[in-house]
Amino acid sequence: MKNNEATQYRSKGLWGSDLFDYSSLPSTNDYCMSRITTLRHGTVVSAQHQTAGRGRFSRNWLSCENTSLSFSVVIDNKKMPYSGITGMAAAVAVHRLLLRESIDALLKWPNDVIVNNRKISGILLEGASDRLVLGIGLNVNMESADFQSCGLWPAATSMKLETGISYELSDVLYNLLDELEQSLCSLAEDGSSLILDYWRSYDLLKGRHITVNHTNNSPSGLCTGIGASGELSLMDKNGATHFFLSGDVTLA
Ligand code: BTN
Repeated sequence: MKNNEATQYRSKGLWGSDLFDYSSLPSTNDYCMSRITTLRHGTVVSAQHQTAGRGRFSRNWLSCENTSLSFSVVIDNKKMPYSGITGMAAAVAVHRLLLRESIDALLKWPNDVIVNNRKISGILLEGASDRLVLGIGLNVNMESADFQSCGLWPAATSMKLETGISYELSDVLYNLLDELEQSLCSLAEDGSSLILDYWRSYDLLKGRHITVNHTNNSPSGLCTGIGASGELSLMDKNGATHFFLSGDVTLA
């Protein structure tokens, strides 16, 4: 992809009419959020390098030059209604892409993708008025030294570390955009059941002992899976069930 130039990429309809690739941005989510009213539905903003990539809960997100994918898409709620399950649908899209490359991954609620207990992808959803910015980071060609230098080793992994293959970043982006379109269209047109069924087939947390770090309390207990609205449920040692629509999970 050339810098800051719409490419020839054409999806089945959702993305690609406005696809911008920058050599460097502070954060593709920040870029989209600051232009949220002017960017069209389906706009894709990608950066070869982010200088201030952000994750959930104000964490930093490592984005290495030409070795990771960092991009955001703009979704207009009037054109494609979004819900609490949109982030899960995006994680499903990443999972399906990895499966195409024979990488066995699991899904960690609410929207992380994990390979061999290491994080390979994260998703950050932000909104303003009736628009959503869906930011995806995927570790593609990073080496262990890239993670070591910023204290993320062995917590993180990349596609290359899992397969030994060096990937063409633009191919990975276009394939992921296609998967994302399929997942989000399935959610909008068929409802949440296909996405939730897929999630349940690759759920990292169900049956595991977890702690959910939430605003007011942080209960621990057995994860009993996800419900019809994508909520996570946990049964504590007293047999009480807790439901979460958001939060950060740590495994025991
Ligand atoms: C997380 O796991 O906490 C979410 C990470 C999201 C990272 C992506 S990279 C593209 C977009 N721009 C950002 O600053 N963050 C998201």
